[in-house]
Amino acid sequence: MTPPTPPRRSVLYVPGSNARALAKAHTLAADAFIFDLEDAVAPDAKATARTNVALALAEADFGGRERVVRVNGLSTPWGLADLRSLAALPSGLVDAVALPKVESPMEVAAVRRVLAAEMPLWCMVETPRGVLAAAEIARAGGVTALVAGTSDLSKDLRVRPHPERLPLLHALSHLVLAARAAGVAVLDGVCLDLDDDAAFERESLQGVALGFDGKTLIHPKTIAAANRLFGPSPEELASAARVVEAGERALAAGLGVVVVDGRLVENLHVEAARRLLAQAAAIAAAGRG
Ligand code: COA
Ligand code: MG
Repeated sequence: MTPPTPPRRSVLYVPGSNARALAKAHTLAADAFIFDLEDAVAPDAKATARTNVALALAEADFGGRERVVRVNGLSTPWGLADLRSLAALPSGLVDAVALPKVESPMEVAAVRRVLAAEMPLWCMVETPRGVLAAAEIARAGGVTALVAGTSDLSKDLRVRPHPERLPLLHALSHLVLAARAAGVAVLDGVCLDLDDDAAFERESLQGVALGFDGKTLIHPKTIAAANRLFGPSPEELASAARVVEAGERALAAGLGVVVVDGRLVENLHVEAARRLLAQAAAIAAAGRG
């Protein structure tokens, strides 16, 4: 069994060009932050955003929460300068670099030639080619997470907004499949409905059901709901504890299967229950209960 990843229930995009948002980020209860130099930043604000993000990272204490910087792609006028500025930062300020619109493992390799080899990379999958190459991208050296970019993907697929994201389901499930096959994390795309809490909740529950580790967010007001929905619920934890306990009893008695709460429990269920308990322990250990 692979060890549980750090909690990534809520991953907030923070535009690098928005000084107020940058100053506020460290006070927010997200599990991780993606400081954005790409889509959220207008072309004439790119250079300022780079400086702002470097300052915010140097100044604020994020209390162990992951700090990720999303750079511009290497095919844009800003990508190389973004990577070089990150490479020049003192070590320990950035936990991962997010790459936009990744379509092949070669693009990942090109980025690794500029950054320190040990820098973890989160790959945004947000184009049809990216989705089709997701399995190879997830296995590329340095990659620790896939991130669904549902807005760009919807545009490229020419699909219309749909309340159940029906047109995206195949791609979303494919990302989960690719990430799990490679043993990397996988994060759902953003919900654009800022004034509809029920829509956010529905979409998040769908992301949980599809197998995502967490959701990328655009506004602080959605952090608490993402933490609640993507984290294990008290009922799930109580059930997991019963499954682990029954599994241990079965093992001691030399039995392969046992019935808990009227359901057949095999070793695979015990493993899944242990994973859930470990996830809860990781959340508690990080002080984010
Ligand atoms: N990160 C950190 N703080 C944020 C934030 C974010 N993503 N979005 C809003 N805030 C802050 C605001 O600065 C404001 O702080 P203040 O009380 O100190 O002034 C507070 O939260 C309330 O914000 P609000 O007034 O409701 O929203 P806004 O009009 O300032 O911003 C958006 C709304 C959508 C423009 C903003 O949330 C945003 O830019 N989100 C990220 C978009 C993005 O990154 N897109 C690319 C990836 S999809
Ligand atoms: Mg995008």
